[in-house]
Amino acid sequence: MKIDVLTLFPELFDVFRRWSIISRAIEQDILSLNTINIRDFSHDKHKRVDDYPFGGGPGMVMRPEPIDRAISSIRTEDSVVIYLSPQGRTHDQQLANALSEKEHLILLCGHYEGVDSRVVDNLVDMEVSIGDYVLTGGEIPALVLIESVIRLLPGTLASEESYIDESHYDGILEHNQYTRPRSFKGFNVPEVLLSGDHGRIAKWRKYSALKNTYIKRPDLLEGIDLAEEEADMLSRIMRELEKEE
Ligand code: ADE
Repeated sequence: MKIDVLTLFPELFDVFRRWSIISRAIEQDILSLNTINIRDFSHDKHKRVDDYPFGGGPGMVMRPEPIDRAISSIRTEDSVVIYLSPQGRTHDQQLANALSEKEHLILLCGHYEGVDSRVVDNLVDMEVSIGDYVLTGGEIPALVLIESVIRLLPGTLASEESYIDESHYDGILEHNQYTRPRSFKGFNVPEVLLSGDHGRIAKWRKYSALKNTYIKRPDLLEGIDLAEEEADMLSRIMRELEKEE
């Protein structure tokens, strides 16, 4: 996969590129991650990329021409151009999964009051937000999106299991995890995990995953079709929790 980030602050990505998971993906040729400084595409003699908003008001708006030139310099038929913005669709695991299948992502990071709307309307394939709050620029959202996507690329993580078992991968949260010691301040690891019985352990993990989801994020259960065994487990969990109250 190739990812090009269009930004006014390319240096923000330097540390990230050397960071273990990403550097491994780059070294193994799974990923090519490039930053492109939008300022390099300004024809202004002072390399300015922003201007006052028509109609007045505070702040500056990024002009469309340097962004257009920057995108045109790298866009191919296989590219997906994504503008990071609080107005976009909210990023989630499903979108990360879908984007991990693409060959080339172009991530446009805005600044100031954002980019000229003609860019969003005519040059961009998708507008993505990382949540309902406002950040100063699209760089951190771009990093969030990049990490969520590249960890799904085959070879990036140690084994496929590492993400298949995780929260959100199959629409629900992950089961509880324990390591040594067996007893910590009087709190014990569930006995079944020490039993060596893989069938029972798998069942317990499903139970624990459903319980976590029901308690912490019940909204996630509305969107998924549970198998009969899982639906039975969930009913049991609900009865047990009612009794505890
Ligand atoms: N730029 C500023 N805030 C943002 C957000 N919440 N998501 C994506 N891009 C942004």
